[in-house]
Amino acid sequence: MPHASLLDDLAGIVGGEHVLTDADLRAGYETDWTRRYHGEALAVVRPGDAEQTAAVLARCAADGVPVVPQGGNTGMVGASVPRGNGMVVLSMRRLDHVGEVNAAGGQVSLGAGVTIARWREVARAAGLDSPVDFGARDSATVGGATATNAGGSRVVRFGTMRSQVMGVVAALSTGATVGSLAGLPKETVGLHWPSLLAGSEGTLGVITAVRLRLVPWYRQHAAALVALPLPVAVELLSVARRQLPHLDAAELLMADAMDVAAAHLGRTPPVHADQAAGVDTFVLLECADHDDPTAELAEALAAVGGIADSAMASDPAGIARLVEFRDRMAESISTLGVPLKLDVATQPGRLPELIALAERAASSRGCHLVPFGHLAEGNVHVNLLGEPLGPGRYAPVDPALADGLAEEILTGVAGLGGTISAEHGVGIAKAKWLPLVRRADELAAAAAVKAALDPSGILNPGVLTP
Ligand code: FAD
Ligand code: MLT
Ligand code: ZN
Repeated sequence: MPHASLLDDLAGIVGGEHVLTDADLRAGYETDWTRRYHGEALAVVRPGDAEQTAAVLARCAADGVPVVPQGGNTGMVGASVPRGNGMVVLSMRRLDHVGEVNAAGGQVSLGAGVTIARWREVARAAGLDSPVDFGARDSATVGGATATNAGGSRVVRFGTMRSQVMGVVAALSTGATVGSLAGLPKETVGLHWPSLLAGSEGTLGVITAVRLRLVPWYRQHAAALVALPLPVAVELLSVARRQLPHLDAAELLMADAMDVAAAHLGRTPPVHADQAAGVDTFVLLECADHDDPTAELAEALAAVGGIADSAMASDPAGIARLVEFRDRMAESISTLGVPLKLDVATQPGRLPELIALAERAASSRGCHLVPFGHLAEGNVHVNLLGEPLGPGRYAPVDPALADGLAEEILTGVAGLGGTISAEHGVGIAKAKWLPLVRRADELAAAAAVKAALDPSGILNPGVLTP
């Protein structure tokens, strides 16, 4: 058997039951959530702690065997599963240790395999809250979210994952360990490991633990779902920033996306778009505070002309019914088929141009476009499907068209001063288009950092590399 001694040694490090070589046991780690990316792993290795993680990496490096770090496997850019055969999947889910909440510091230390949902539970048990939330909360891990610099719905208030990481510990492929969980908000001693590792997509080191920020738990909520033309949505965002100190989310659903969510959920939205009249957009606004924010939200809506229809809720069940259309969007789209996903962003004011260029690129190739995203960050998830196969089912975009389609949209977004990756990462999906948003000298400097930290080049090869 190829690599027999490697597998024996890995079993010696983590225990034989945590080196999965059987095809059935490997399967769930080999295909990503989108079902677009798949590769056979040499083995799935499941370390139980930081020391085992470092030892596994050093052993793989000795044989030059590439390693794919994996958390919840909910990533969307093909970076969490093997490419081709012969890679080791390093599953970090067993590192699920939860430290004690430090209430005075507003922090907690968590193993890399703790889920986003568990982070919130731990925070709330201490009367605090977690500042990051998104639909994959029950599977996505804090290690994976740090590695992708995940965003989600609360970025408008608290920033992306990068802003929450007060400390990190990671294993390098050399077997070295870097970083700490001291969590000092003020410390200027040179290189800052959280800054370097957040967004590195498993290419520089494997995160074993993080120290994360906790925020106040606002128990009074109000939400509004409104239908309006896209330029008015941009105006609404400006008003929200001025008038809503407790704004917690400003999310975007284009009308075609709302149709998909409504069909999947089997529910008619309480507000109506009218695409023929230019009312093509839904915006979901949420406010959260210690006092009831309903009145401030209503006043903000009243300050904007051009809202065609709106619904508000302040009770938990009513809010959940509005939020569900947006929160379950990714799941709804996946019932249509396997979409080509492009996660792009520009300044919010340029969203009408971004949507228009995506529509042109899709319609000129006969593709179906389902756009939604995060209004506050000008972040659109461009989901593209191929020809209809029947009611509610589409083929994937024809592989012969996919590259040209992606290139046209990504080039267009870069031309708007935007980015090819807002929150999902570059992965292998968009690696070749990195030069659209990074100069050659920047890419060379990034490659030099990678070579210094991962000299054997085993960590997630192909990811973030044009
Ligand atoms: P994985 O998918 O396992 O891995 C993602 C990347 O991180 C890979 O490059 C992997 O190699 C690396 N990695 C994983 N763990 C580690 C580690 N311990 N050390 C080093 N590298 C590691 N993302 C958003 O940003 N915002 C959203 O709103 C959002 N909504 C989503 C909704 C749904 C329904 C789904 C399925 C996904 C959504 N995502 C969203 C994408 C995804 O959930 C995030 O990218 C998440 O951060 C991935 O975490 P994970 O643990 O699943 O990582
Ligand atoms: C979301 O915002 O729901 C996600 O990032 C998931 C997706 O893009 O499919
Ligand atoms: Zn998103």
